[in-house]
Amino acid sequence: MTLDFSGKVAIVTGASRGIGRATALTLARAGGAVVAAARSDHAATVVDEITRAGGRALAVGTDVTDDAAVRALVDRALATFGRVDVLVNNAGIARDQLLLRMKREDWDAVLTTNLTAAFMCSQAVLKPMIKQRAGRIVSISSVVGQSGNAGQANYAATKAGLMGFSKALARELASRNITVNVVAPGLIDTDMTRAISAGTQSDWAAQIPLGRLGTPEEVAAAVCFLASDAAAYITGQVLAVNGGMYM
Ligand SMILES: NC(=O)c1ccc[n+]([C@@H]2O[C@H](COP(=O)([O-])OP(=O)(O)OC[C@H]3O[C@@H](n4cnc5c(N)ncnc54)[C@H](OP(=O)(O)O)[C@@H]3O)[C@@H](O)[C@H]2O)c1
Repeated sequence: MTLDFSGKVAIVTGASRGIGRATALTLARAGGAVVAAARSDHAATVVDEITRAGGRALAVGTDVTDDAAVRALVDRALATFGRVDVLVNNAGIARDQLLLRMKREDWDAVLTTNLTAAFMCSQAVLKPMIKQRAGRIVSISSVVGQSGNAGQANYAATKAGLMGFSKALARELASRNITVNVVAPGLIDTDMTRAISAGTQSDWAAQIPLGRLGTPEEVAAAVCFLASDAAAYITGQVLAVNGGMYM
């Protein structure tokens, strides 16, 4: 299936690396204008790559934990491209620790970045999407939000939270022709998983029926499908991209 995002504008948070970067590149290759958000000037490289290939993109330095920065991000998108059709809530962090030793600051940082930011970004795009009577919101959850994982109580809480959040929003927004869905990746080869030792990575890969980690591009394909016109009748769903790790 060839997806066509011509004339569409997509905001991708955490677009500097990994899954967000792959999603920004895939959307741009399909003709979409991409507003790439990451902290400081981190999204400049992906934006250069898109514009050098003839696409349209704008880097906006955004800390998604900052309400004012999130509002400014959406305002820049509207001022530059005139509309917002797609929001991809992708920015995320992990601060792993067994609960007995987990610090309140690590709980708060993960909750704010992974869950509260999705609330703020989604709220900020609602007005333009409702006005357009069309929109797509896709949030990146995780297999950990479905299965749980020792040492990731904070992370798992946010990833499960994104699923409940998205289902509630899907019901609120269906009458406005805005769909809200979730992609739940398994183990994907990015900076986030490269921080884990090679031994642990290969132990994990042994638990994956397809026998390997996924690529950011494989997750981006699912995100872009849900963000496309082809997914017009899909809302409130969780699409797992996990090599069969959890079924
Ligand atoms: N990799 C996996 O196996 C896996 C599996 C399941 C789910 N996920 C989820 O997929 C998403 C992307 O993960 P990834 O593996 O691609 O991670 P990554 O390579 O570590 O990239 C994380 C992205 O999030 C951005 N980010 C973090 N904190 C931010 C903040 N406060 N404001 C703005 N941007 C921020 C980073 O931008 P900066 O340049 O500003 O740091 C970066 O672009 C995350 O939500 C993650 O939880 C990943």
